[in-house]
Amino acid sequence: MNGVTVVSHPLVQHKLTQMRKVETSTAGFRRLLREISLLLCYEVTRELPMTSETIQTPIVEMESPVLDGKKLVFASVLRAGNGLLDGMLDLVPSARVAHVGLYRDHETLEAVEYYFKAPESLDERLTIVVDPMLATANSAIMAIDKLKERGANNLRFVCLLAAPEGIENFTKAHPDVPIITASIDERLNESGYIVPGLGDAGDRMYGTK
Ligand code: URA
Repeated sequence: MNGVTVVSHPLVQHKLTQMRKVETSTAGFRRLLREISLLLCYEVTRELPMTSETIQTPIVEMESPVLDGKKLVFASVLRAGNGLLDGMLDLVPSARVAHVGLYRDHETLEAVEYYFKAPESLDERLTIVVDPMLATANSAIMAIDKLKERGANNLRFVCLLAAPEGIENFTKAHPDVPIITASIDERLNESGYIVPGLGDAGDRMYGTK
């Protein structure tokens, strides 16, 4: 998996359209985000290493495929990342979870860290970083800087929407980290929002302003 993957699956695109609509309720937005996260998780885990084990079916003994290696890590960039995290944990319940707390300074648009907690042995695990909006990419870049400082060396980044400016900044800073997104939108506006976008993902998920 390299560069940027846009997940064009019809279900993802349909659900994303519902999420963009200004009239979609908080409950609807949260449900759609959870549903899309299952499909994005399916895509990002497509190349997980496999091994096999000998099992007994009711009929015969067989060699059957199972996941190999240490449990993977989902790293949620707080707070909006949690909207993608929940669905991913439904699909991979044994995954470990890291939380990276960052907020965006609304004047400078720079990311500011306020919380970091991650599992052990990041150097032996695949780390899937989740944050719905890749806008300037400042938060995503900083989250991955922190995870790499703690040893992560095999990472993927999953978002719902990406701005071209964000993709450019992100790939300059972390060319080794593939991006999986449901859409590449047109641009960022002067306030750092993705256009056409869906507004503030955290506010729409939690009903805040
Ligand atoms: N964060 C959001 O929630 N929305 C945007 O459009 C950009 C950053």
